Amino acid sequence: MDRLTHLLERRSIRRFKPEPLREGDLERILAAARRAPTDASGQLYSIMRVTDPELRRALAQLAGGQAHVAQAAEFFVPLADVHRLKRLLAHRGQEMARWPRTGLHFALVDATLAGAHLAVAAEALGYGICWIGGLLNRPREVARMLELPPGVVPVSGLVVGVPAEDPPLRPRLPEALVVHENRYHGYTPADLDAAYAAMAPASRRGDWLFVLERYFAAGGAMEDRDPAYGHLLAWQGFVADWPPTAARALEDAGLPAPSLGEALEAVLKTGWRGVLFGREGAGWRVWLERETAAERGEGRTPGEALGRAAETALASDG
Ligand SMILES: Cc1cc2nc3c(=O)[nH]c(=O)nc-3n(C[C@H](O)[C@H](O)[C@H](O)COP(=O)(O)O)c2cc1C
Repeated sequence: MDRLTHLLERRSIRRFKPEPLREGDLERILAAARRAPTDASGQLYSIMRVTDPELRRALAQLAGGQAHVAQAAEFFVPLADVHRLKRLLAHRGQEMARWPRTGLHFALVDATLAGAHLAVAAEALGYGICWIGGLLNRPREVARMLELPPGVVPVSGLVVGVPAEDPPLRPRLPEALVVHENRYHGYTPADLDAAYAAMAPASRRGDWLFVLERYFAAGGAMEDRDPAYGHLLAWQGFVADWPPTAARALEDAGLPAPSLGEALEAVLKTGWRGVLFGREGAGWRVWLERETAAERGEGRTPGEALGRAAETALASDG
């Protein structure tokens, strides 16, 4: 089979024979993964190969009880990783700058490209693969179990093994809906109907909406996953204005918050009335205020409102 045919006929495999990869194939697959392109030669990724059966079973459970995670010959977790880069710079006396947002972006890209190369290489050798986004149901437990240091987050899992099933190809959106030329085209109601029609076989009930709802609508899996993923990003140092030390300290105090905004909300819900930020030398200071004396003034203009507030304040002082 030529390379393109194998790509055009690929599909995810979820049942595997209890057989290991053939000798030498693991090395070839990993070599292909490491050949993936990488921005600025940084290689902001790692690949965790999970061989401990106990750990595999635990990860299969975390992923929502997906048996193929425990059963396939191999289970990998591609990791977005800026930790090694920081160590490399420090090793030669350089400090890594702070670029948490682009760090996350490029590390996710590098890890995904390496994972995709790994997957395509495995499929080219006749193995079956399936990505396991279910790991993102409980990403912090995954990070803890794999002992990921700050700067490292799991992208997804990836099972590889000898196929024991031959499922049909799953549908895809029509080319015209996903390929744009020069400028992004919008979507007419007819386009959207065409999308649902093309994707209908993706659902056993013949309606793609059931799948989309389960994952992406209110109350779906993605909304469930989002807070935990936010906490993971904060813990691992990828949230620009919310350092891991602060995230951990608040969580220890029973106020888990994945961002500065959510931290303010959490603190203000505990009875503190106000939070005041100010500069102090090169840094910042914050007051949490419990007993704030406040007077309210209302007016059509800021001056009018201020005048009324001051009037009342002065009267109550006197
Ligand atoms: C990021 C990502 C996460 C996925 N997570 C899971 C998963 O947790 N379990 C699973 O059985 N399949 C998973 N899949 C496989 C998709 O369900 C599959 O690719 C999709 O339904 C299209 O089917 P096909 O790959 O057979 O064409 C995942 C795929 C991707 C790209």
